[in-house]
Amino acid sequence: MQELKSIKGTHDILNSGIAKWQKVEKVLQKVFASFCYQEIRTPVFENTALFARGVGEFSDIVSKEMYTFSDKGGESLTLRPELTASVARAYIQHHFWQDAPVHKLWYLGALFRQERPQAGRQRQFHQYGVEVIGSALPEADAEVIALACSIYRELGLRNYVLHINSIGSTDTRKRYTEILKKTLEPHKNSLCETCNTRFEGNILRLFDCKNPGCAEILKNYAPSILDHLSSEDAEHFTRVRELLDVMAIPYEVNPALVRGLDYYTRTTFEIKGTALGAQDALCGGGRYDKLLMELGGPETPAVGFAAGMERLILAMEAEGLFTEEEAGMDLYLAPMDSHALNTAMPIAQTLRDAGISVYVDLLGRSLKAMLREANRKKAKHTAVIGDDEIKNRRLQLKSMFNNTVSELPFEDLADALKHKK
Ligand code: HAM
Repeated sequence: MQELKSIKGTHDILNSGIAKWQKVEKVLQKVFASFCYQEIRTPVFENTALFARGVGEFSDIVSKEMYTFSDKGGESLTLRPELTASVARAYIQHHFWQDAPVHKLWYLGALFRQERPQAGRQRQFHQYGVEVIGSALPEADAEVIALACSIYRELGLRNYVLHINSIGSTDTRKRYTEILKKTLEPHKNSLCETCNTRFEGNILRLFDCKNPGCAEILKNYAPSILDHLSSEDAEHFTRVRELLDVMAIPYEVNPALVRGLDYYTRTTFEIKGTALGAQDALCGGGRYDKLLMELGGPETPAVGFAAGMERLILAMEAEGLFTEEEAGMDLYLAPMDSHALNTAMPIAQTLRDAGISVYVDLLGRSLKAMLREANRKKAKHTAVIGDDEIKNRRLQLKSMFNNTVSELPFEDLADALKHKK
């Protein structure tokens, strides 16, 4: 029989991996709550048209990376390759604007892109992110960037750099694109094949090309978009920078940061891990003032970011930010036989109801095997239940920290363990 394995580019998250994810998720929840953002969960698959229209036909995601299939009714569906379009769709579908002028949302979920797998790049990966929908002000951009940085600060991550840019509003970009085309036209033949394809479709993407020859041409001849911003765009960008300065958030201005998704307007930013390999983008985002309108909603400005969970965990591992496993359950309860389980199971239930974590052996193992396991699982306390304990309705609570033993009636157990928590 063929051996069944997980699909290439997808990963199981097991044992100590889970502890790492939970540690990060706890910090995410804390930071999102401190910024007063609300969670949103959207479906894993959507109509293909949402991403084709939202993310853009010329983007790598839509042109070659989507998991698209027809369901039995012949409808074209796509496993979500990103979440901004889905959140925008939900905002429009549920008329969010009727409740409040601004919505500050966060999410965490699985995404799917058919990319070539390598370290830090999977076909199923996870992103956390935020979308602030309803404010055109640069203050929203600054808040979103500050939030992204707060997460790294809270987690203790140090090796990263924030890059920011402004790609201007639609009119600015139209003008700049024409200038760029004219300037680069004489060098077109020296550009790689991909850049030649992008030249007509989306010339800004030339800045993403990793080919050293193309990069050299751009460096020598391409004008900076920052020199071509309209006065409103320039003012917006100056204010974003001012706010980052007053919050003491360090950044580098990078005029080549155009991002690979088509919906951006004005601010774009990326946070790059300096201890990661080729896949060094920890987080990417920016403003997208036209997306909601393009998806059929009211004209609504918005800004957000998304960050890869797997890459964050790799970066944290590289900085040694995961300490040894933390202590295990509050109590490992060891029943001597199945008769003792009649007493152990209700005791365990009462303690769990009181918020105490209790592990009960379910294999009918020997006392020695149970105590060895309690040790391995780093139980904080152990207690054995046998005939004597049942008869006297008392047990010996052993602390695994300092090896002390206290004898207690069953009914005092919850208080004693709570006290020791
Ligand atoms: P993105 O740059 O495509 O932006 O992805 C954001 C982050 O997701 C990346 O910086 C990276 O950490 C992670 N990521 C992307 N692809 C993979 C992959 N194949 N494997 C592992 N991690 C990956 C967006 O998705 C936009 N929706 C961000 C945004 C939100 N813009 C505005 N709001």
